[in-house]
Amino acid sequence: MANARDVKRSESEIPHHVSRTVGFSLSPNMSFHSSPSSFGASNLTQAAASAAAKHLKPFATEDIKILLLENVNQTGRDILAEQGYQVEDVHVIGIRSKTKLTARVLKEARNLIVIGCFCIGTNQVDLHYAADHGIAVFNSPFSNSRSVAELVIAEIIALARQLGDRSNEMHSGTWNKVSSKCWEVRGIIGYGHIGSQLSVLAEAMGMSVIYYDVINLMAMGTARQVPTLEVLLAGADFVSCHVPELPETRNMIGYQQFEQMKDGGYLINASRGSVVDISALIQAMRTGKIAGAALDVYPHEPTGNGDYFNNNLHPWCTDLRALKNLILTPHIGGSTEEAQSAIGVEVGQALVRYVNEGTTVGAVNFPEVNLRSLTMDEPNHARVVFIHRNVPGVLRKVNEALSDHNVDKQMTDSRGDVAYLLADISNVDTVTIKDLYERLECLSSRIMTRILY
Ligand SMILES: NC(=O)c1ccc[n+]([C@@H]2O[C@H](COP(=O)([O-])OP(=O)(O)OC[C@H]3O[C@@H](n4cnc5c(N)ncnc54)[C@H](O)[C@@H]3O)[C@@H](O)[C@H]2O)c1
Repeated sequence: MANARDVKRSESEIPHHVSRTVGFSLSPNMSFHSSPSSFGASNLTQAAASAAAKHLKPFATEDIKILLLENVNQTGRDILAEQGYQVEDVHVIGIRSKTKLTARVLKEARNLIVIGCFCIGTNQVDLHYAADHGIAVFNSPFSNSRSVAELVIAEIIALARQLGDRSNEMHSGTWNKVSSKCWEVRGIIGYGHIGSQLSVLAEAMGMSVIYYDVINLMAMGTARQVPTLEVLLAGADFVSCHVPELPETRNMIGYQQFEQMKDGGYLINASRGSVVDISALIQAMRTGKIAGAALDVYPHEPTGNGDYFNNNLHPWCTDLRALKNLILTPHIGGSTEEAQSAIGVEVGQALVRYVNEGTTVGAVNFPEVNLRSLTMDEPNHARVVFIHRNVPGVLRKVNEALSDHNVDKQMTDSRGDVAYLLADISNVDTVTIKDLYERLECLSSRIMTRILY
């Protein structure tokens, strides 16, 4: 299928609307000239009399791309644009977890059609505002599942052999050759993307796997689902949590659950910090009920690197840090080069599919809508993308607008207040596309119209 072009606002934008976001380039028409600093200004003035100042500029000025958000004044835009820099009202923004796209920021990005979060979480984006203004948001929730599963496997072995403590002792010069409480490993919990990956890796190492999940899920290999959390806790040497952060999973492992675990069992949490009651864990480890634990996530986590894991962060930090056979890692479960690369591919492809084909599969704030691709045998077809308020009577009006065309296929779905419609129509040219675009734009329910052809 040829790349679709995108009609969004006016006829003049029809042929280039999307390609402009990636290829639009202004020729440099001025070289960069920095104003003299106050320091040495008089010397510069004197020097200028004898030698003309050299105007410095980047080698390829048009390669300098500037994204201005938050209503930067036009004067600033003009100065930058005059240099030949690409000052863009972007259609697509790619961020990771640190950039906050609040309603205030998004309000200024008037051409924005989609945001790619090249990370797992999306709480840095105001998803509701974005949906309400026709901006789809994509992320990559499962690209690092394998990385987390591998970390957990490493931790199971390290805990069972008390590797952290033995290594620390050797670093401080102590030879302490012990074998008590060093178990042969057996048993795991959890069965989503990460839990099931972990199940496969654990079985490959010869462990037997039991899992508990709120829904019935097909077992990988010879793993076995158990009916309740209690049964799992009583039967597993290693309990590894891989559940989402939900009201139901808050403190899912607390005092009572530690009591239900095997004596000398182990706990691993690489899911969300709220899932384990840390005070209960500290007590269970102090009494020896729990022989070891590994934590990768915490109820509150520092926003940057530094000496922040102390009692200012959590009142129990000092107590926790003092425990033996406890592996503490700073939320690195998914942090591998492979995971980052997979995230790049997943989000990059989702953005291309959305921009070129209007597909919302995987969007976190839109209903998921997809249509089979148009083919090269359908050269005069166009795809209508109509994002609208989810109110009665819209489809009748949209179909009135489409009624002059043969609608090959059409799909619509809604999520909350926002609905998303895709329709492929045949035998269109740029004039009819413009007419159709304008008719749809006039509908009171309209949030955003795009036509891809
Ligand atoms: N440490 C890290 O770096 C890292 C990286 C990625 C994901 N995570 C976290 O790991 C967790 C699991 O991720 P995933 O991709 O496997 O999620 P997932 O959605 O694929 O799987 C979660 C599973 O938990 C089950 N579940 C939900 N509520 C439950 C309950 N009350 N009791 C039992 N099971 C329940 C669901 O049915 C589902 O099968 C998430 O909290 C995620 O945020 C951590």
